[in-house]
Amino acid sequence: MATAGKVIKCKAAVAWEPNKPVVIEEIEVAPPQANEVRIKIVATAVCHTDLYHLLESMAIGGFPTVLGHEGAGIVESVGPGVTEFQPGDKVIPVTLSQCRKCRFCQSPRTNQCEVAWTRIRQEIMSSVVSRMTCKGKRVNQFMGTSTFSEYTVVDEIAVAKIDPDAPLDKVCLIGCGVCTGYGAAVNNAKVEPGSSCAVFGLGAVGLATVMGCKAAGAKRIIAVDVNPDKFGKAKVLGATECVNPKDHDKPISEVLAEMTNGGVDFSFECVGNVEVMRSALESCIASWGVSVIVGWTDMYDVAIPPGHLIAGRTWKGTVFGGFKSKDGVAEMVKAYMDKKLNLDELITHNVTLDQINDVIELMRHGKCIRAVMSVSPQ
Ligand SMILES: NC(=O)c1ccc[n+]([C@@H]2O[C@H](COP(=O)([O-])OP(=O)(O)OC[C@H]3O[C@@H](n4cnc5c(N)ncnc54)[C@H](O)[C@@H]3O)[C@@H](O)[C@H]2O)c1
Ligand SMILES: [Zn+2]
Ligand SMILES: [Zn+2]
Repeated sequence: MATAGKVIKCKAAVAWEPNKPVVIEEIEVAPPQANEVRIKIVATAVCHTDLYHLLESMAIGGFPTVLGHEGAGIVESVGPGVTEFQPGDKVIPVTLSQCRKCRFCQSPRTNQCEVAWTRIRQEIMSSVVSRMTCKGKRVNQFMGTSTFSEYTVVDEIAVAKIDPDAPLDKVCLIGCGVCTGYGAAVNNAKVEPGSSCAVFGLGAVGLATVMGCKAAGAKRIIAVDVNPDKFGKAKVLGATECVNPKDHDKPISEVLAEMTNGGVDFSFECVGNVEVMRSALESCIASWGVSVIVGWTDMYDVAIPPGHLIAGRTWKGTVFGGFKSKDGVAEMVKAYMDKKLNLDELITHNVTLDQINDVIELMRHGKCIRAVMSVSPQ
C-alpha cells in the first residue's frame, strides 16, 4: 500500500468533551508500531457503551477521544513483528484482547486476557498508547479501538481475522453487542433446553441475548422493556412473550414470578441500571436461578439482601459474552455466513459517519437498534 509507513490524514468523529456533539475532524493516524495493525474502517455502529462514556459516565477523563468499538475493516499495513495479519485481510477490532499466552487466555474458565486486564486505564477507557492526533493534540483511543475513524491502529492481540467474503456492513455488529448478548446466554448462563428466560432491555445486546436463549433451546423467552416499540423485533428474534414493567402496579419480579410459577431459570440485565440488575436477580427462581449482568455502569453500587443468594440463586456478569475474543468473533462471523445468526434484523438504519450525531440522538431516544455507518469505501 502506498500509505504504509506514512502518517495518514483522514476523517474521524472526535469527542472533544463529554455531553457535546462529536465533531468530524481531520486527524493524523501514525503508522503502526511493533505488534500493531493499522486498519481502514469500512463500517461501524454505535453501542450504548459509547453513549455511556459520552453522555452518562461521571468520569471526566478520557477526552478528547475517538469513540467506537463495534466496527469492521481491512488491514492497511502492519508494524514490525506482526505475522498473523497482512494488508488486505478483513478484520474486526475488539475491546477485549486474546494474547493466547497469558494464564487467563490459557484457561478455559475465562475469556479475559491478563494483558488487557492489567493495562486498561479506567479513567481514559483505553489500554493503548494512542496513535491519533488532531490539531496538534493527542486524542485518546476509546477502548483501544476507535472505530469512528477512517483509519485506526490496534494492538494485534485485539484484532480478529474474519472470512474474506464477510459483508463488513453487517458483521461489524459482531465486534461488541452481538457477541456480548448471544454469549451471555450460551456461554455465561449456559441456558438449557426447555428452560425459561427473561431478558431485560431490548437494544442490540438484549436482542442478541434473546437469539442466544433461542439457539440454546429455551422454551419461554420473556422480553422486558419500558419501550414497547422494541417488542416487535424481540418477537421476530425469538421472544415468546413481551412485558412492559410500566403496565403493572407491582414490581416486575413479582409479575414474572406469577407468570412462571416462582421465577425464571435464567435472567439477563441488558440495560446498565442497578435497579434493573436487582429486579433481574429477583426475577429468577430461588434454588437454581442464574442471573447475568450484561449492562454496564460504574455510577452506583448494587445492593441486595444476602438471602437472595443464600437461597441458591447465582449472580454473575459477562465481558464480551464469555467468548475468547479472536476465536469468538471468527466463530460468530461463520455463524452469520452459514445463516445461523440473524444480524440483518438488528440493523434499523444505514447511514454515513458524517451522520453520527443523528445516530447518537436516535439511540438516546430508543429510536434505533443499530445504525450501521459506512466509514471508508472498500
Ligand atoms: N458486558 C459487556 O461486555 C457489554 C458489552 C456491550 C454493551 N454492554 C452494555 O449493555 C447495555 C445495553 O447496550 P445496548 O447497546 O443494547 O443499549 P440500548 O440503549 O440500545 O438498549 C437498552 C434498552 O434498555 C431499555 N431499558 C431502559 N430502562 C429499562 C428498564 N428500567 N427496564 C427495562 N428495559 C429498560 C431501553 O428501552 C433500551 O431498549 C449497555 O449498558 C451497554 O453499556 C455491555
Ligand atoms: Zn459495546
Ligand atoms: Zn491473554
